[in-house]
Amino acid sequence: MDFNYHLDFATNNIGCEKQRAYFVPFESKDTSRNKREVSAYFSLLSGEWNFKYYKSISDVSDILLSDEKVILPHNWQMELDKGRDVPQYTNIKYPFPCVPPEIPTENPCGVYNKTISVSKNDIEEKDIYLIFEGVDSCAYIYVNGTFAAYRVTSHATSETNISKLLNEGENQITVVVPKWCAQSYLEDQDKIRLSGIFRDVYLLKREKICIKDFFVNYKIADKTKVCVYVELNGEAKVNYILEGHSQFYKGSVEIAQNGKIEFEIDTPKLWSDEEPNLYSLYLNCGNEWIFVPVGFRTIEIKNRVVYINGQSVKIKGVNRHDSHPTKGYAVSYEDMLNDLYIMKANNINAVRTSHYPNDPRFYYECDRLGLYVVDEADIETHGIGAFNGDMDYLSDHPDWQSAYVDRAEKLLERDKNHPSIIMWSLGNEAGFGSNHVAMAQFLKSRDNERIIHYEGVNCCASRFDETYENITRKGRDTIYPKTTEVESMMYPSPEFCEEYILNKNYKYPFFLCEYCHAMGNGPGDLKQYWDIIYKYDEFFGGCVWEFCDHSVTTIVDGKIRENYGGDLGNHYNDGNFCQDGLVYPNRKPHTGMLELKEIICPVTVTKTNKEKLEFVYKNRRYFKDTSDIAVKYSVKSNGKLLSSGEIDIIVGPQCEEVFNVEKDFDSKYSYEIDFEYISNIDTEWASKGSYLGHNQFVIDGEKYDFICPKTAYEAILEPSDSTYAIKVANKTYIIDKATAKLQKIDLSGREILTVPTTLNLWRAPTDNDRNIKNEWYELGLDRLVQTCSGITADETENGVVVTANVSLGKDSNSICDAVIKYTVLNSGDLKVDVIADMNCEFKMLPRFGLQFVLDEQFENIEYYGYGPYESYEDKCLASRLDVFKTTVDENFEPYEKPQENGAHYGTKYVTLSDGETTFKVVSDNKYFSFNASKYSLKQLTEARHNDMLLNENVTYLYVDYRNSAIGSNSCGPELNDMFKINEKHIECSFLIEIM
Ligand code: GAL
Ligand code: MG
Repeated sequence: MDFNYHLDFATNNIGCEKQRAYFVPFESKDTSRNKREVSAYFSLLSGEWNFKYYKSISDVSDILLSDEKVILPHNWQMELDKGRDVPQYTNIKYPFPCVPPEIPTENPCGVYNKTISVSKNDIEEKDIYLIFEGVDSCAYIYVNGTFAAYRVTSHATSETNISKLLNEGENQITVVVPKWCAQSYLEDQDKIRLSGIFRDVYLLKREKICIKDFFVNYKIADKTKVCVYVELNGEAKVNYILEGHSQFYKGSVEIAQNGKIEFEIDTPKLWSDEEPNLYSLYLNCGNEWIFVPVGFRTIEIKNRVVYINGQSVKIKGVNRHDSHPTKGYAVSYEDMLNDLYIMKANNINAVRTSHYPNDPRFYYECDRLGLYVVDEADIETHGIGAFNGDMDYLSDHPDWQSAYVDRAEKLLERDKNHPSIIMWSLGNEAGFGSNHVAMAQFLKSRDNERIIHYEGVNCCASRFDETYENITRKGRDTIYPKTTEVESMMYPSPEFCEEYILNKNYKYPFFLCEYCHAMGNGPGDLKQYWDIIYKYDEFFGGCVWEFCDHSVTTIVDGKIRENYGGDLGNHYNDGNFCQDGLVYPNRKPHTGMLELKEIICPVTVTKTNKEKLEFVYKNRRYFKDTSDIAVKYSVKSNGKLLSSGEIDIIVGPQCEEVFNVEKDFDSKYSYEIDFEYISNIDTEWASKGSYLGHNQFVIDGEKYDFICPKTAYEAILEPSDSTYAIKVANKTYIIDKATAKLQKIDLSGREILTVPTTLNLWRAPTDNDRNIKNEWYELGLDRLVQTCSGITADETENGVVVTANVSLGKDSNSICDAVIKYTVLNSGDLKVDVIADMNCEFKMLPRFGLQFVLDEQFENIEYYGYGPYESYEDKCLASRLDVFKTTVDENFEPYEKPQENGAHYGTKYVTLSDGETTFKVVSDNKYFSFNASKYSLKQLTEARHNDMLLNENVTYLYVDYRNSAIGSNSCGPELNDMFKINEKHIECSFLIEIM
């Protein structure tokens, strides 16, 4: 058989209907609001199909039936045990040699077949359409062996009138799906590359004369004009009803092919993310009823500010891919809805459909739940630079223009009636060129209201240069207005964003289509961005990259493994760069999601000034007051609750109110005042009582004393050739003279330490350390050896003091010289003081502190620090200062690629206990950071997967002067200097009490 269309990049759909608004007709007004499966005119063909896999499309000689069954929708690579090609994760680089428009001749292919049954009545009275909502990469469609259509654009809907090819009774539908087609050059999105029929397939049985398309337009005013452009395939009467919010309008219009329904309504209730007010429009023609949710809202840009319904709202968005760890792209309706619930429950109000149109039903849910949508065309050519170094090659090539415009048409025509969509995006990372201008012209000609978005126009600003003066994309001034109405960027630093906004040369609202790359442990810089976003109306907000981790789940030795690039086959891949979401593949939130939820919380409390206990409650919303939110407060001191209650304030949109907290505070002690925002209504995504966010204020006291009172014994020094042993009461501390390490702690005959205690500068690099870690490896921070050049011991009034000069180095080169002072106090406690000087050049240290290795029974943790979630200097919005109890296991954050995790910043004390003995670390002057883990740094550094970590039967405890912050440098800017350990002189001390 000859398959040629897919080799021609200029062939768009063949044998398909003109693109139209998505809808499903029903038999009556009453039923029309149902799920589409309820309609008598709709027959779902998803489900069991016959399937045959070919290594190459050139082997497909006939399209006969095969016995193998698959359940559609699916991606054939996700059925891992079938001996087909495997899921491949590549980000930028094309999954085939980049020589456009050539694609490999060995092009895997799936042939699908299904027998359908059609009644005589349907054949005689109806037109029958075969619809595919998503096929990667393209499809040849046959009915009873006769070619019916060719469709291209993976994430678009295609529709073919197959009436003439059908017989009464059984019919064969056959679909040939090549893995790649020439237009795959336009679909180089950063995702696991998968193929097949991945969205629903169905039949629509339509009246011979019926509504083909419609476009709801309106102009909001005192008397709002509604105009619905309707297209019929003949001449008929169209009845309409618009109802909702106590309003009701109806009428009918005779329409021949193209016509308009026009009527006036009273001022409608507006649609927004906060109040997604919808009206129901019903269109009826013959026996068909179509339900259309209509939301009235305005979008305007004035003086570089975007206004929705007249308010300068913020986009608190995320980027979302269709991604599921066992279903691949074939996410179900329930999966999508669940994702949207997670967004709403985390205060997210917008989603960019990165980087292609989603399932058409997705947008109905966004309309209904209240989420702004940036709807993106199915275009990315990120890897094209490999061809001739020209990133703009395809986007600026006239021969490719029809494919670009076709994709704009497939985007807009299908989705044009959704109030949730406020921006059309021309695609992602496709360089820049005349084809974008043509797309934008098309979009503007059809829809003058929504904002056109394309980041590629000025991507060079963030990609090449941090100083905006150097944005010199060719033709920027003339082309700009035609291709984007927001200046959209990805991953510029917060400082860059602010400078940009203050530079009046730039004309458009500022928007981050991607920021705060949420890979692994991160992002840590959300607050830095939001401080600026909240400050300037010109800053429209942004979408975090990205919603979910991508993976392919397998079970290895009974444990779940979330596979990423390089795992399932030996091919080019981009490792774990696809595991960069705010939720794990199973949708459990990462701590990064909890951070985001806090900073975009709809309300907030700030303190008016340092001295007074006076606070301001602010409503960050634009349309709704705070009557659905309760504010609970608590006052604690050293983790003990002193008072609590509820603050009874309701403030209007964008308003604030000052209030006081009455309490006698003793300046000796420190206090934590916490305001927690709780929803007091049930919503579809969260029940009454659910947590929305909090703000905590810590008032430091004069005293800082967590040391237990003790009787004094006498510390006795017993030196030997190689050690100093110090005995006090039932404890013996042994310090090794050669290394100055604390070698042993003996408590009434029990060894507390499994391995000697050392200074430690290493942490298992986080994904956000991926750039800096090379410096760390060069310095040898992962393999430092502690040596001692001089050690003395003195008996003093307080106890025995051992003072050692040590150096840390990877070989004989010292990178750090330190004085460690061990004081074994007469109380039996041990004080460790470290004064260190770094004698190498470095940008940032991972951490600085002590590593203790205890036996595994020390598994119960209590700490007074920032928890209960992992916390770092820049990642502590979701946590609060309090006393928490946990275990070593519970404290572990299971990043699929193991890395630094589970730290608690701002700690005043931590105890590890086995139920009888308690190992306590206290810092008597300063907060410290700690983490406890069952796995060595070496394991956490090297393991590819979480399930590969081996139990070592010990508990590692790290107490750090500082642990460097997190940031989002896996794709975003370098960590801000204030969060780096970049000081060369470090002093810290810890008190260790064993009880
Ligand atoms: C962006 C891109 C995304 C994703 C991200 C890195 O440049 O638009 O698709 O690749 O980087 O995770
Ligand atoms: Mg890309």
